[in-house]
Amino acid sequence: MEHSVELRNVTKVFDDDTVAVDNVSFAIKPGEFFSLLGPSGCGKTTLLRMIAGFEKPSSGTVLLNGKDITDTPPYKRDVNMVFQSYALFPHMTVYNNIAYGLKMKHVPKPKIVEAVNDVLQKVKLTGLEKRRITQLSGGQQQRVALARALVNHPAVLLLDEPLGALDQKLREQMQIELVNLQEQVKITFVFVTHDQRESLTISDRIAVMNNGNVEQLGSPKEIYEFPATRFVADFIGTSNFLTGIYRGEENGLKRIVIPGAEVWVESPQEIETGEHVTVVIRPEKLSISKEPNDIELNSLQGVIEEIIYVGTDTRYFVRILANDMVLQVFAQNVLHTAKQRFTWFDQVYVSWDPGSTSLIKE
Ligand SMILES: Nc1ncnc2c1ncn2[C@@H]1O[C@H](COP(=O)(O)OP(=O)(O)OP(=O)(O)O)[C@@H](O)[C@H]1O
Ligand SMILES: [Mg+2]
Repeated sequence: MEHSVELRNVTKVFDDDTVAVDNVSFAIKPGEFFSLLGPSGCGKTTLLRMIAGFEKPSSGTVLLNGKDITDTPPYKRDVNMVFQSYALFPHMTVYNNIAYGLKMKHVPKPKIVEAVNDVLQKVKLTGLEKRRITQLSGGQQQRVALARALVNHPAVLLLDEPLGALDQKLREQMQIELVNLQEQVKITFVFVTHDQRESLTISDRIAVMNNGNVEQLGSPKEIYEFPATRFVADFIGTSNFLTGIYRGEENGLKRIVIPGAEVWVESPQEIETGEHVTVVIRPEKLSISKEPNDIELNSLQGVIEEIIYVGTDTRYFVRILANDMVLQVFAQNVLHTAKQRFTWFDQVYVSWDPGSTSLIKE
């Protein structure tokens, strides 16, 4: 099957020698909801602009539906972009904003009316077509920007942090609507965000970027459960890191010797005995108990140093006796009485299953 968008060894060096994108290669499938996720300045917008054609790669190739478009001007690419700032015409009506591109292309009027009405319905703006942009809420403006891009039926829709200006509740609602919309229109979406939760929620696959590089590419579950690098583990969610040395396998489990203790990891990673590794453990995979935990293979003794209540769960910071490291434990607040089982300076055991960790080579 042909790829929708493909980047081959794409690099962008700006005039001042800033390397914004550094030898990036990946392919996006037709109809995929694909996200570029990474911190500010990592090269997301630059990458998107090279797909749109607003920026030319310093080297490398951009393909659209299997065709090399590296030198094709933006207006000849079957691609549309939704900008973070929406870039709408403030004094024009909703209808005219959406119809603008089609009018420029001299599409016959009845066709325009039909196309605009269809897309208004898809983004749930029917009835507001006569309003001016200045008379709309942020969320409504965002929908107009989407409608304006969708009305052209591009093969690929590029979205640069389109939900950035919305408050949290509306943003979460729009995330679900975007996913539903994408399923309806079956257009490939390339969605830029620096919000890790957002990208986990909406994406089929995510490319995690750092310093112009793609650090990991995978499904939300792969990225969250099996981060490939320390950067990914740290940027997406919260992680505990235990660094140690691999000392061989027993009963299908890898023995990692960390300062003052040893832990067991279930991982398919190929590593050599004696290699330095980091064990990544998500705080919600850890459990905490006053008595030693006889069920779990991994159990470390410590003292509760800090407790933070965040509504859905309680976060415990436990200092491990054997090595003075602090582990974060997220415990769901199951009881609505909010009865706290633990308090400051409690001696506790922190335990976890060898299968709920992942390994990173140092
Ligand atoms: N026209 C330009 N000239 C020089 N440097 C640039 C130019 N545009 C972007 N950069 C630099 O390239 C790097 C990547 O910028 P880019 O806008 O792609 O980041 P981003 O990941 O979209 O960040 P944000 O999340 O803040 O939008 C940054 O260091 C930025 O300063
Ligand atoms: Mg950007």
